[in-house]
Amino acid sequence: MNISIESLREKFNQIFENKNDTKIFFAPGRVNLIGEYTDFNGGYVFPVALDIGTYLLISKRNDHKVNFYSINFEDSGKIEKSTDIKKIDKNTTDWTLYPMGVIHSLYEMESVTLPHGFDALVYGNIPNSAGLSSSASVSVAFAYAFNEMYNLNIDKVRIALIAQKAEHYAGTLCGIMDQFISAMGKKDHGVLLNCDTLEYKYAPVKLENYSLIIMNSNKKRALNESKYNERRAECDKGLLGLKKELNADYLGHITENEFEKYSHLIEDNIALKRSRHVITENARVLKAFELLSNGDIKEFGKLLNDSHTSLKNDFEVSCRELDILTSAAREFDGVLGSRMTGAGFGGCAIAIVLSDREKEFTKYVGDIYTKETGIVPEFIKAVISDGVSKLSKA
Ligand code: GLA
Repeated sequence: MNISIESLREKFNQIFENKNDTKIFFAPGRVNLIGEYTDFNGGYVFPVALDIGTYLLISKRNDHKVNFYSINFEDSGKIEKSTDIKKIDKNTTDWTLYPMGVIHSLYEMESVTLPHGFDALVYGNIPNSAGLSSSASVSVAFAYAFNEMYNLNIDKVRIALIAQKAEHYAGTLCGIMDQFISAMGKKDHGVLLNCDTLEYKYAPVKLENYSLIIMNSNKKRALNESKYNERRAECDKGLLGLKKELNADYLGHITENEFEKYSHLIEDNIALKRSRHVITENARVLKAFELLSNGDIKEFGKLLNDSHTSLKNDFEVSCRELDILTSAAREFDGVLGSRMTGAGFGGCAIAIVLSDREKEFTKYVGDIYTKETGIVPEFIKAVISDGVSKLSKA
C-alpha cells in the first residue's frame, strides 16, 4: 500500500482539529549489506537506507496533550498520551511505545521536556515484520521531528542514539546500526560505521549491471527481547573468556589471528561459536567495504555467502525459510551472492542479481520457495536513499 502525501494530509485534517503548521518528515528503513550482530560488539556494519520507511505528519498543540494516529494500526484509533514524563507507561503494548520512548530518552539524555504537546499521524510503507527496521524509522522520525519543531539543536548522530535508547526502552537491547542508517543514510551509498567510536565513511554502492534485491520471506518475525538479548549475553560470555589474555572491550576489537590463538579460553561451546561469528563477520565487513570501493562486486558477492553461512551455523539466527531463499538464489545463474539480513529468525534476505535477469530470478526463487514452504515471498528492488529529512510544510 502506498499513500500519497496529499492523502496523508487529508487524513491528518480529518483526524485532528488542530491543523496549524503541520510538518511532514520521512525516516527510511534499511537493509544491511554485511556486518550482522557486530554493532553491539563494537564492530563494523555496512548498511544502506531505503526509499521505504515512516512518514510522520506532526503539528504542535498549545497544551500538553499528545495524540497519535497510525494508518498501519487504524483499529487502535486515536491514542492519547501526555508529554508529562512521569506519566509514561512502560507497560504500553502498542506502537506508541517508540515515540513515547523517544520523549523519555530526550529527557534522560538531553534533559529536555517537550514544552508543548502535539498531534501526530504516522504511516509506514515497510512490509510488516520484515526486519527492515520499521520501528527504528518510527523512532528516528519522531526524534528528528522534535528536534526541528522545538529547535533542540541535536545533530543526527545524537538523534540516532536517542532513537536507539527508545528501542531499549521498548525492550530490545539493540545496537546502533538501524537508527544510525535511518538518520545518516545517503543516496546510492552504503555507510561503513564503526559502532564503537561512531566514526563513519560513505562508499558508493555501484553494482554496475547488477541490482540489490531484497527477498522478504514473509515469515513474520518479531525482534523480541528474548532471542536477541540471549545472543548479546552469549557474546559477552565469549568476550569474558578471551579477556583472560586479551585486553579488549569488545569482541569487535579482536582480530581473527588473536581469536585463533586464544579461542580455547572460551569454555562454553555456544559462546565460542557466537564469538567466532562476530570476529569473522567483522573482518568480512572491512573486506567488503574495500572490495566495493574498488568495484570488485564478484568477490563482494562471495563474502555475502560466507556471512550467511556464519550466521546460520555459528550465530544460529537464520531459519529454514531464509536458508531456502538464499540457497535458491545462489543456484540461479546471474547471482553473485546472497545472505540473510538484519536480526534473522524470519524477515528478509538479499541477493546481488544480474539486472536483466531479475524477472527470471524472482520467478525461479519464488517458485522454489513457495513449493517448499507454502509461503509466497515478496521481492523488492532496493533503492538506496537518504536518511531522515523534513519533506515539506503542509
Ligand atoms: C537488529 C538490531 C541491530 C543489529 C541487527 C543485527 O536489526 O536492531 O542493532 O544488531 O539486528 O545485525
